[in-house]
Amino acid sequence: MGKRIVVVGTQWGDEGKGKITDYLAAGADVVVRSQGGNNAGHTIHFNHQKFALHFIPSGVFFPKTKNVMANGMVIEPNAFFQELDDLAARGVTGFRLFVSDRAHVIMPYHLDLDVLWETFKGPLAVGTTKKGIGPCYADKASRNGIRVGDLLDPEALALRLRASLSVTNPTLMSFGREPYDFDVLYQKYRALGDRLRPFVTDTSVLLNDEIDKGSRILFEGAQGIMLCLDHGTYPYVTSSSPTAASVPVNCGISPMAITDVVGVTKAYSTRVGGGAFPTEFEDAIAQGIRERGHEYGTTTGRPRRIGWIDAVVLRHSRRVSGVTDLAIMLLDVLTGVPELKICIAYDLDGTLLKEVPGNYLHFSRCRPVYITLPGWSEDLTGIRSWHELPPNAKRYLETIEQQTGLKIAIFSVGPDRSQTIDIKQFFE
Ligand code: GDP
Ligand code: IMO
Ligand code: MG
Repeated sequence: MGKRIVVVGTQWGDEGKGKITDYLAAGADVVVRSQGGNNAGHTIHFNHQKFALHFIPSGVFFPKTKNVMANGMVIEPNAFFQELDDLAARGVTGFRLFVSDRAHVIMPYHLDLDVLWETFKGPLAVGTTKKGIGPCYADKASRNGIRVGDLLDPEALALRLRASLSVTNPTLMSFGREPYDFDVLYQKYRALGDRLRPFVTDTSVLLNDEIDKGSRILFEGAQGIMLCLDHGTYPYVTSSSPTAASVPVNCGISPMAITDVVGVTKAYSTRVGGGAFPTEFEDAIAQGIRERGHEYGTTTGRPRRIGWIDAVVLRHSRRVSGVTDLAIMLLDVLTGVPELKICIAYDLDGTLLKEVPGNYLHFSRCRPVYITLPGWSEDLTGIRSWHELPPNAKRYLETIEQQTGLKIAIFSVGPDRSQTIDIKQFFE
């Protein structure tokens, strides 16, 4: 039986999921994106080339791999085609790509509403990527959405668009915006539907067939568990669930189908956008980490906030997402940091907490309780085995294992595909 491995981010996104997915994709038959949209930015380096993917699964660099965008995703067709064109311009063509007929369409008014909601919230804004993600998922949940399959069927599109505009236009007008014209949007999205048609299929049927055949499947998470709509730092979260538990519903497969969950974890922490971040710090060391790690958003270019690694967060992610193995990323970036801190608990107004509190105001008052370990000064970027690591780097990684109760299966010492060291083989 081929393994069915979920790659999840255990922190606030940008952990290196694209890199790990691309690395593991060499042994996979199918790579699947199951949630989110182009709020994701997944960076992949190989052969001196760098790619940033937003919608397209990170299996596209392997021609035999099937790439699936499943029903739980939200897709903006113009940005989707732009991404395909950008890949084609760099010679990446001929890959196999399938899009679910049940994925939801990000419409132009979702982009408007994302900006308007953020603007009107003022200091309470979430700090979204402004890609229309929240309003699109909101329309899905309130039964006002348009699905990819609707774009292929004139009657369905007319019905769904009419219903959607009947609630959206009054909202836009209440914000002082012009309403959208049905006919203009209808013509435009019918044409986009025709362009999408060759990719569209029932991806649940496709994936279940692959499972029956014993295929090796990789599910590429987007965002991170602390951005989960349910288990993250609500309301400073995204509008889908990046957990492994969300994969079955977002793909139409059995919950029993998942065999492994790789928790991709930065050797420190970052967060982009608003929301509390207990281990955040800003000084020359943080600035050094930001520059060495190129910690600027792949999607928005925003500087990422920097913090120490947080074992409370990692244990939370392990619990809510059933993480079975860790992949520790960007270890090379910590070279030269004299002392490394690991948060092992929180102090909330004098009470010691071992878990992430559900009340956001409590979370925002949590002060980190640290253990401190000595750093190392050796360059790690050429290392290709555990044994070559300096003793202090080994000690740092072993302490992360002790604090999380998880084994490190992979560690990464640079952005390139070749700078990936696996301790455990996932696909034989
Ligand atoms: P994702 O959203 O989880 O796929 O992560 P992003 O691509 O947004 O951000 C991760 C960043 O770290 C990218 O710029 C990667 O090229 C880079 N990266 C990944 N692994 C390593 C590593 O081990 N070392 C260094 N220096 N950079 C890495
Ligand atoms: P990848 O897959 C980091 C953050 C945004 C914002 C919040 C809500 O590259 O790890 P949204 O646009 O989703 O409504 O924004 O979530 N966010 C991410 N942060 N990496 C991501 O994706 C993110 N996707 C969303 O910055 O704080
Ligand atoms: Mg990213």
